[in-house]
Amino acid sequence: MTYLMATLLTIWLPLSGAQSQERTCPLKGPQFPAPRGLASEAIFQKATGVIEQFIRANLEESPYNETTFSIGMFSTTDDDKLLYEFHHTDPAVETSGLGTNKADADSIYRLASITKILTVYQWLIADGDRQFNKPISDFIPQLLEYQEDQDYYPASRWDEITVNDLAMFLAGIARDYGLNDVAVDGYIVSLLPTMAATVLPNNPANGIDVPADDDPVCGHFNTDVEYLPCSREVYIKAVANLGSSFVPSYTPSYSNANFALLGLGLENMLGATVEDIFDEKIAKPLGLRSTTMGNPLQITNDSVIPGGGLVRSGWWDALGPLNGAAGSFSTTNDLAAIGRSILNSSLIPQAITRRWFSTTSFVDTIEQAVGRGWEIFRVHANGHSVDLFTKSGTGAFITPFLSCCRYRQHAPPGARQHRQTAGECEFCGPIHSADEKANTSITVTTDGSLGLRVTEYIVSGVDLLGSVFALFGSDVEFRLVPNQLYDGRTRVGFSAVYQPPSEIPPKEEFYWTCPSWLDIDDYTYADVPLGLMAFDVDADGKATSVRLVALRETLLRKSTANNTTNT
Ligand SMILES: *[C@@H]1O[C@H](CO)[C@@H](O)[C@H](O)[C@H]1NC(C)=O
Ligand SMILES: *[C@@H]1O[C@H](CO)[C@@H](O)[C@H](O)[C@H]1NC(C)=O
Ligand SMILES: *[C@@H]1O[C@H](CO)[C@@H](O)[C@H](O)[C@H]1NC(C)=O
Ligand SMILES: *[C@@H]1O[C@H](CO)[C@@H](O)[C@H](O)[C@H]1NC(C)=O
Ligand SMILES: *[C@@H]1O[C@H](CO)[C@@H](O)[C@H](O)[C@H]1NC(C)=O
Ligand SMILES: *[C@@H]1O[C@H](CO)[C@@H](O)[C@H](O)[C@H]1NC(C)=O
Repeated sequence: MTYLMATLLTIWLPLSGAQSQERTCPLKGPQFPAPRGLASEAIFQKATGVIEQFIRANLEESPYNETTFSIGMFSTTDDDKLLYEFHHTDPAVETSGLGTNKADADSIYRLASITKILTVYQWLIADGDRQFNKPISDFIPQLLEYQEDQDYYPASRWDEITVNDLAMFLAGIARDYGLNDVAVDGYIVSLLPTMAATVLPNNPANGIDVPADDDPVCGHFNTDVEYLPCSREVYIKAVANLGSSFVPSYTPSYSNANFALLGLGLENMLGATVEDIFDEKIAKPLGLRSTTMGNPLQITNDSVIPGGGLVRSGWWDALGPLNGAAGSFSTTNDLAAIGRSILNSSLIPQAITRRWFSTTSFVDTIEQAVGRGWEIFRVHANGHSVDLFTKSGTGAFITPFLSCCRYRQHAPPGARQHRQTAGECEFCGPIHSADEKANTSITVTTDGSLGLRVTEYIVSGVDLLGSVFALFGSDVEFRLVPNQLYDGRTRVGFSAVYQPPSEIPPKEEFYWTCPSWLDIDDYTYADVPLGLMAFDVDADGKATSVRLVALRETLLRKSTANNTTNT
């Protein structure tokens, strides 16, 4: 029996786009400011309609017919409501005597590994990220105390493994203590063929010479599929002595133990349990009603219990010291509130949020990376890259359930791009100096490519595109991309990318294929980048004026100029 929960921050819309042979390579990051009022956009409604149509057409099929799931979408620029939601209850849950019979946005799901994001979030709220390069043994000294000399296997180097290594899946320590250890006669062994199941469990008769003292005593499922949680001290002592997978800071390798240790380190730092820390630092400030770091106090009519049974679903298993890795429970509404607070930097400084969303290590492909708790996927939309920050969760056993939480750092450019080219560009138009004699103006358009395009930039009668910026070539394109330097609500900042378009190099070429970042703000005026522009916007996000920041000059945009794009 499976269940699935998906909370998507926003939806990514057109993921392909016409690509010309020549282009200006984009900068990393969104090409437009985040859209407001996404739920009422036709393109958003169309996209969610397509998704819903697909789901409805498949509800009778496996695995949907045996899966209770909720989908919620939210955005930081809209209020507390979900932009979109969809819930499905499978027959077993519908008729169960335990928990809910009908899933909605307040239904409580087990989050499994999405918890890892909550653990990192708690640490960032409690202590920021200044101590992230300290070894974890500074926070859990028992890791060094308990470590014994090992003859046969390389143990973890606790004084080298940093908090950041743990959060980034780079600690190189083992994945788990106990969970899938085939030396003990537990659930995992029961899945093996007879001979393996007979010979592998460690006992003097089996001919494998391993000290019985080394067998895991907890942290796994027994043959009745009951989870045996460890006590805190037993777990720390056991993890201290696990065999390593790799040296630290070497290659990403997924590990539950990483996040259990982050939770335990945080508990030591604050002298409280992660359950209480979560309540204090996240649940109360955000007014969450049904999110807990460990098991809720009781099963209620909101609990989603797949298969109608507690044991085989693993719904009620208490994880003890693994709470920081997989112990949380939450609802679609609560996860949306948590996601909004993360993306909106409501509980941590914006600079820390940006670092949280930028620190990555690639896996072997450039399209996939890891972050602090994040599983990051790169997709391509309209000729540029969009990084999806996601976290999935899987049940400990049985047919895995997937809990999937997709966060994006910023709203999709696709929607905005569409809107800009549809003749409703909020920044476009010829924008002139109020002083007509000054002959100072810019013309802003969109053309479906990177950001906003400035086709005219005249200052006191001097054509800057034809003079200063043309030093890059007479075919230079001057484009504006968001720089996040202003608040974004009343004033939106842009920096310029000025490049002549160049041919897209063949795939096998690797050297400087995307050179735009090398020439940002080459030209300045009296210490300020000549490409820096800031638009003042009204409550609807429409620009009312633009500051040519370097020239210390403000041009007024006529409010009627909403139909001036040359698409
Ligand atoms: C779900 O569908 C699969 C095949 O599509 C079927 O084998 C299974 O019995 C169905 N389950 C339920 C609960 O109807
Ligand atoms: C985002 O933060 C701003 C400023 O702190 C606040 O006014 C706004 O209500 C927040 N929005 C959300 C969706 O949390
Ligand atoms: C839970 O649902 C049952 C059955 O519908 C109902 O009798 C009971 O009062 C509900 N409990 C709560 C706390 O709402
Ligand atoms: C303003 O300056 C531009 C660029 O030098 C020039 O082409 C244009 O004729 C000038 N307009 C006026 C009214 O002088
Ligand atoms: C924009 O203006 C053109 C004429 O310049 C007109 O044909 C078109 O319908 C207008 N579009 C909108 C959305 O107002
Ligand atoms: C501006 O947009 C509004 C609504 O989108 C439209 O009614 C109006 O005609 C537009 N103005 C111009 C000048 O195109």
